[in-house]
Amino acid sequence: MIKVKVPATSANLGPGFDTFGLALDLFLTVEAAEAIKTSCRFTGEGQDQLNQEEEENIIIKAIKRVFREAGETAPDLALTVNNQIPIGKGLGSSAAAIVSGVLIGNELLDKKFSHGQLINIAADMEGHADNIVPAMSGELTTVMEDDKTVYYQKIKTPADLKIIIAVPDFQLPTHKSREILPEKADIHDTTANLQRACLLLASFFNGDFSLLDIAMDDKIYQPLRKQFIPGFDEVLNQARAAGAKGAALSGAGPSVIAFALNREEAVGQAMQEAFNKNNVSCRIFYLNPNHTGAVIF
Ligand code: HSE
Repeated sequence: MIKVKVPATSANLGPGFDTFGLALDLFLTVEAAEAIKTSCRFTGEGQDQLNQEEEENIIIKAIKRVFREAGETAPDLALTVNNQIPIGKGLGSSAAAIVSGVLIGNELLDKKFSHGQLINIAADMEGHADNIVPAMSGELTTVMEDDKTVYYQKIKTPADLKIIIAVPDFQLPTHKSREILPEKADIHDTTANLQRACLLLASFFNGDFSLLDIAMDDKIYQPLRKQFIPGFDEVLNQARAAGAKGAALSGAGPSVIAFALNREEAVGQAMQEAFNKNNVSCRIFYLNPNHTGAVIF
């Protein structure tokens, strides 16, 4: 039997669209055992909506993809899945499912592929690497893709960093959140985002969050995406007023991520109240960074 545990991830962190990703201590756990017929049993987040049919199941698709890359056919498997990651909320649930599948497939193939090769396969399945890499490797990662190869660096996250995530009760499909993005960006906005992205990375590298708020102020994507999130500006403003060091849309949304060094409960409460005021119910998750990435037992 193979067991894998893969963390949730929050991508972009404001200016780092398709670039930054942070691993969170919220997990998808999958157990796989060889069986006569492929099956999948889900518990946890999304258990009623996740498709358990073999041809639609992302975990099984990823296992089969790794076998295909190896020129082999995947065996039938009985999967037991426990999922803590909210689905369709901008917390990397599909990346976690893909990563769990490629890791299980690779174990069944006696570790035929390297960590880097698995990242390339998983990123190709997902369409972008910003959630895949931190799900595999943990911590804050910055990725670059060139000619179907993923390059990345990992930055150790400070131990005292508190992460607050407001998860609204509606889903925002990633394709809907990407469809509205422009083909081309203004040079001034692009420069502003590049400056902010570098400032954000340096802030994490130095463990100095005094400029994080302005560093997370994305000029290109959030201004367009916020139309899908009632009360978005108010949630960010209230988070800051309650003591957050910075806040942004988590991935493609609709969740909002905020960072704090203390008073995290006041930040969470302020974010929840702001969403409620805009007729959106939400859950608040108090999390820490995940340092290890996916683990195989
Ligand atoms: N970088 C991606 C986006 C993350 O913002 O669309 C969501 O998968």
